[in-house]
Amino acid sequence: MNQDAMKKQAAEAALAYVEGGVVGVGTGSTVNHFIDALATIKGRIEGAVSSSEASTERLKGHGIPVLDLNSAGELSIYVDGADESNERLQLIKGGGGALTREKIVAAASRQFVCIADESKLVKVLGRFPLPVEVIPMARSYVARELVRLGGTPIWREGFVTDNGNLILDVQHLEIADPLQFEQRINNLAGVVTVGIFALRPADVLILGTPNGAKTIK
Ligand code: 5RP
Repeated sequence: MNQDAMKKQAAEAALAYVEGGVVGVGTGSTVNHFIDALATIKGRIEGAVSSSEASTERLKGHGIPVLDLNSAGELSIYVDGADESNERLQLIKGGGGALTREKIVAAASRQFVCIADESKLVKVLGRFPLPVEVIPMARSYVARELVRLGGTPIWREGFVTDNGNLILDVQHLEIADPLQFEQRINNLAGVVTVGIFALRPADVLILGTPNGAKTIK
């Protein structure tokens, strides 16, 4: 079974958590499978709140109404992928650059269901370069501070987020204490969002595996 088939398996298993109402929808190739699956039950939901322009386009393409988070209120569920998860369901996200809106929608949702293939489960976060969204004028300053924290930041050149900002991908980190590290990077002037999701981790992780979808809570 290839990686994409495992992503699809996890995405389809997440449908069981959708109870109607408005569904928060993340971004990425795994979520694209989820959006396609959601389309098969679109008559049972009111619509979706989307975390990116790319997901909005795909949702609309399926005829699923996309609502503004400000008018949707608290969401019962948010479904999104991840670049890495540890066993406490603390995540690295932002490989697709949508981390800020993803963090907002996750925070506004009662339950966060994370979907991924089994390769995303790691013992310690940090092998995947940590995305940090920064205000453009703060790029060099924040990069210097990230070096002081032990990382090697690489500017994702040519990429602008949906919010008009830049991304630094920080290599060579071993994030032993994700909660503390998230707060530390959040506090740097010019940082919009760090791609550690530990203050608000996932509640459920569904992993696609060759032996079927595995759920960790
Ligand atoms: C986008 C994300 C994605 O959830 C993450 O990059 C995983 O992507 P994929 O499902 O394509 O492996 O955080 O900002």
